[in-house]
Amino acid sequence: MLTTDSLQKIDREIAKYPPDRRDSAVMAALAIAQDEKGHLGAEVMAFVAEYLGMPPVAVEEVATFYTMYDLAPVGKYKLCVCTNLPCALRGATDAVAHLKRTLGVELGETTPDGRFTLKEGECFGACGDAPVMLVNNVRMCSFMQPEQIDRLLGECK
Ligand code: FES
Repeated sequence: MLTTDSLQKIDREIAKYPPDRRDSAVMAALAIAQDEKGHLGAEVMAFVAEYLGMPPVAVEEVATFYTMYDLAPVGKYKLCVCTNLPCALRGATDAVAHLKRTLGVELGETTPDGRFTLKEGECFGACGDAPVMLVNNVRMCSFMQPEQIDRLLGECK
């Protein structure tokens, strides 16, 4: 189900916890599985559950709670806009509206060319930089007013 390379990475995460707490590595394991597969389908989540000795529903609870996990395929660039209060007060609603208009998609949708998926997320812990956007779960973009958004979209080839 997962490559040897991914399994070795997961094993390294498991080794950080006591032997009877393999399940503590679930977030890392899901991230590693998603990196390999592109998204977390039901089979992948079931595999992770079995590998960690967890009930499948417990893995699904984690995967469905955090916006960094994708349960369905996403575009080349996943744009996740924080819409929690501090960001909302500093323009996140306008940022989402601008992205919807520019990309022609609603939240949760992917552009027809497969380039962008637009999502909303919970606080990324960078409220002082509001409004904040996360690209592909790793690139944090601060102060995302429409001009900054347009510049970012232009960089995403
Ligand atoms: Fe948006 Fe905290 S509320 S980063």
